[in-house]
Amino acid sequence: MSSLDLRAEILRLKKEKNAIILAHSYQTGDIQDLADYVGDSLGLAYKAQETDCDVIAFCGVHFMAETAKSLNPNKTVILPDKDAGCSLEASCDAKDLEAFLKANADKNYYVVAYVNCSIGVKALADVIVTSGNAVNIVNQAPADRPILFVPDQNLGSWVAEQLGREMELWNGSCHVHMEFTRDQILDLKAQHPNALIVAHPECTQAVRLLADHICSTEKMIPFCRESEASSFIIVTESGILHRLQKLIPDKEFIASPTHNCSCSNCPYMKMNTLEKLYKALDSLEPQITLPEDLRQRAEAPLLKMLEQSKN
Ligand code: 13P
Ligand code: SF4
Repeated sequence: MSSLDLRAEILRLKKEKNAIILAHSYQTGDIQDLADYVGDSLGLAYKAQETDCDVIAFCGVHFMAETAKSLNPNKTVILPDKDAGCSLEASCDAKDLEAFLKANADKNYYVVAYVNCSIGVKALADVIVTSGNAVNIVNQAPADRPILFVPDQNLGSWVAEQLGREMELWNGSCHVHMEFTRDQILDLKAQHPNALIVAHPECTQAVRLLADHICSTEKMIPFCRESEASSFIIVTESGILHRLQKLIPDKEFIASPTHNCSCSNCPYMKMNTLEKLYKALDSLEPQITLPEDLRQRAEAPLLKMLEQSKN
């Protein structure tokens, strides 16, 4: 099928199945252009909570589709490629976290889980955060309990720096953001001396120290739009460049290379394709299914996050 036919078929099936297409900003441009909503993890969670469609076609990675299902147990949630995982999610196994919490029960940790984690880890958390609201949510944590932040040590250390609050950090990280190096970003800055460096908080502290601004993917858009600068070195997954360039066409966005590649792709995010989206809408497979007790235990800290995010 040509890409034009594929687009037309996806739109037809979307109508026929009463579906909404949600896409993360790291998806390929063709998927972003077709989606009803493109956003970061936080925006996608709100959209999933608000929709009255019967089917949520989630173009992102598995934990994001699980979040949508946790908030919408009666809706059909499909993910075009069921193997679209996340290295950060894989760096914290629910059984390991459970054992750690048991062994340290005397500490009475307040567990803050970055949304990039499995449903099992979410079920053990007191509250969930995204990169867009982590500082705000951790700021609302009880002052009299020590915080355990899982699974991303980089986001966790950035939040701790922002708030001046010590936290115990799980030893997890995103293999995509770990690839950025100071030397490569400094080289790029030498080639584009007037460009501002905008980095995602999943980057290492060494890289974050070079940044003019650190924020979630969604917040990069208003920052770049409102900034007086006209060019930006974007230190995160390359998919966001499509969105930035589309929404702010008069400015220049420069992708950060890694030591493997001239830009940076998350292999999991890029598993979804228009073809797989079409097949998923046609067959309503692969579907996300969750054991109800686990879903309920994960839903509580998710709802707490959505509530506290408004403060
Ligand atoms: P956002 O929280 O900015 O959506 O990022 C999610 C993610 O997977 C970053 O690698
Ligand atoms: Fe996970 Fe990293 Fe991919 Fe984000 S970029 S989905 S954290 S592997």
